[in-house]
Amino acid sequence: MGDNQLQSRFSVTVIFLNESDIKRDQHQELTLLAHRQLDDDVSLTINDDAGVCVFKFSITRETECCRVASRSFLVTLGYFSILLRFNTQSEFQGFHRLLSSWTDLRTDPSVFQQRTDESSALQYFQFYGCLSQQQNMLQDYLRTATYQKAILLNDVDFKDKVVLDVGCGTGILSFFAVQAGAKRVYAVEASSVAKYAEILVKSNSLSDKITILSGKMEEVSCPEKVDVIISEPIGYMLLNERMLESFLHAKHWLKPKGMMFPTQSDIHLAPFTDEQLYMEHHARTNFWNQRGFYGVNLSGLHSSALDEFFRQPIVDTFDVQILMARSVKYTINFLEAKEEDLHRVEIPFVFKLLQSGLIHGLAFWFDVAFVGSRTTVWLSTAPNEPLTHWYQVRCLLQTPLFAKMGQTLSGQVLLIANRRQSYDIHITAVVDQSGFKSGNTLDLKNPFFRYA
Ligand SMILES: C[S@@+](CC[C@H](N)C(=O)[O-])C[C@H]1O[C@@H](n2cnc3c(N)ncnc32)[C@H](O)[C@@H]1O
Repeated sequence: MGDNQLQSRFSVTVIFLNESDIKRDQHQELTLLAHRQLDDDVSLTINDDAGVCVFKFSITRETECCRVASRSFLVTLGYFSILLRFNTQSEFQGFHRLLSSWTDLRTDPSVFQQRTDESSALQYFQFYGCLSQQQNMLQDYLRTATYQKAILLNDVDFKDKVVLDVGCGTGILSFFAVQAGAKRVYAVEASSVAKYAEILVKSNSLSDKITILSGKMEEVSCPEKVDVIISEPIGYMLLNERMLESFLHAKHWLKPKGMMFPTQSDIHLAPFTDEQLYMEHHARTNFWNQRGFYGVNLSGLHSSALDEFFRQPIVDTFDVQILMARSVKYTINFLEAKEEDLHRVEIPFVFKLLQSGLIHGLAFWFDVAFVGSRTTVWLSTAPNEPLTHWYQVRCLLQTPLFAKMGQTLSGQVLLIANRRQSYDIHITAVVDQSGFKSGNTLDLKNPFFRYA
């Protein structure tokens, strides 16, 4: 259903409430028609079986209204209130989403909306709404098992505690928190997978422990402050998706001295040499060198194609022997960092080369740490560790740099967050002893998946 539609139809039971007693004046099946007016108020009409209007009212900017339990909506109109109980939870969610999208138009945009293009968010949450994508993450054994291990080994941090799960997906981390003894878990999920999480919570008989809050972390209201925030907000090169900002945003609901799981992350970078990868990337552009493609000369686009392909970070894995220096580490502490700190991430580097040769680019990976009261557990995506679904990421230089063993390569990586839930990567590098310089600007939103 398009949120821009001006009218929609729902089946409801209507209960009129006043302060002295609860009267069930109406208990038959009625139809609720929601209609967005030109002034952005929402007109609601309740019709009986015969299509006759039995009640009509508007929700304006001033109307007091809220969700009640799992599928009801309460609207207070002057001296009485009206409870709309939807026949199914999905009908309620459809109504609620529609109302939110209409009324969002006239409220201040959330932090998420301010930093995200609508088209990007739509595509992003559609992607995570698919069970196949959730399955892909759940089946990353190293990821899922390490999360469970980190939580269960630190069960003292969860026992009888209130937990917030940011971007719960199917709710797997919330289940781990309960396994560790959590008293209550609020599990926030913005995509439609929230309804599947709800099903799993019910079918695992945990409705008394886990509450699914459907919506964006930046827009939902958590019923109470929490002791621990858990999340898997990790994208390629750690930062892709910009979900770490939602994780940090959630600290609004964290009690003083509360815990963050994960607690910190280290981004690693190191120069690499890989002639084959470089040649392969060039070869991809050969198509645009053709002078007789169905009688058309394509070569005028060759340099644009080269630029475009070199803007793509490469997602795959490699042998650590291609690394030409020890990695440089950049740490983000989730207990201390603010959302704004991730808008511009500047990573200066000085590498001392351990071998001579051509530097074709920089390789990136990351580790995250769960610092619990009992133990610290690390989840590593390093090239010498078992592979995860995050692989490693390599950024090529258009012009490779020759350097000798013992020389230094210095420069910086500048990551600038963009409205497409990703980053523009700016790399500048110089071999200090020869003065040879190179660099590149890449688009993390559009990586090249090279793994087999
Ligand atoms: C990487 S997945 C992790 C899912 C689950 N926690 C797990 O470990 O399997 C991230 C999830 O967070 C959700 N998400 C991303 N940004 C969000 C936000 N701002 N508010 C609520 N949910 C969000 C996505 O829809 C997705 O389901």
